[in-house]
Amino acid sequence: MLKVIEHPIIKIKLTKMRDKESSHSIFRTRLNEIASLMLYEILRDYKSKSKKVITPLNQEYNGFDYDKEIVFVPILRAGLGMVDGLLNLIREAKVGHIGLYRDEKTHKPHSYFYKMPEVAKDSYIFIIDPMLATGNSAVDAIKKIQKDGFNNISLVCLVGCNEGVQNVEKSFGKDFKIYLASLDERLNDQKYIEPGLGDAGDRIFGTK
Ligand code: URA
Repeated sequence: MLKVIEHPIIKIKLTKMRDKESSHSIFRTRLNEIASLMLYEILRDYKSKSKKVITPLNQEYNGFDYDKEIVFVPILRAGLGMVDGLLNLIREAKVGHIGLYRDEKTHKPHSYFYKMPEVAKDSYIFIIDPMLATGNSAVDAIKKIQKDGFNNISLVCLVGCNEGVQNVEKSFGKDFKIYLASLDERLNDQKYIEPGLGDAGDRIFGTK
């Protein structure tokens, strides 16, 4: 299930990120801000559990608390660029990590690191990567987490394209939850998304 989260503020911030003149600090700041805004929308359907508190007026209040744990799993390294923004919204969340790099020639992902927190297998797992390009890294990451027994997994990316979405849907079905801020036009021969925003890792960390 692909959901493109539409909001004028997200579109304005994303335009700033697409601008090649924007510095890495602007790019990183806007990325984190959009990640927060996306998560706010994504969690609209989150089922909280009830929690009673006593207010300063000694009134009992039937309130709400987190039910299942929430885990963000950035795909290294570009996924790290969204984690601060996500944790700004949900401080209680835990963070796993998946280290994948893509071979420059074959464009296939190779795994070099995997660490998840010890949480219930039905926790909300959000795999995080700014770009859904070929979808190969996302598919690999989802397979790894599924193999570990987790069954409540979604994918949160900033910018995607049809090829990446179709790759994920082919592997995990149309009901698999994919969230984007923008579905861009195409993937070029170098497997970069166009119009896109360039190499997200480089732009986040100022490495180019
Ligand atoms: N990874 C990036 O960082 N950018 C793209 O356009 C595609 C993959």
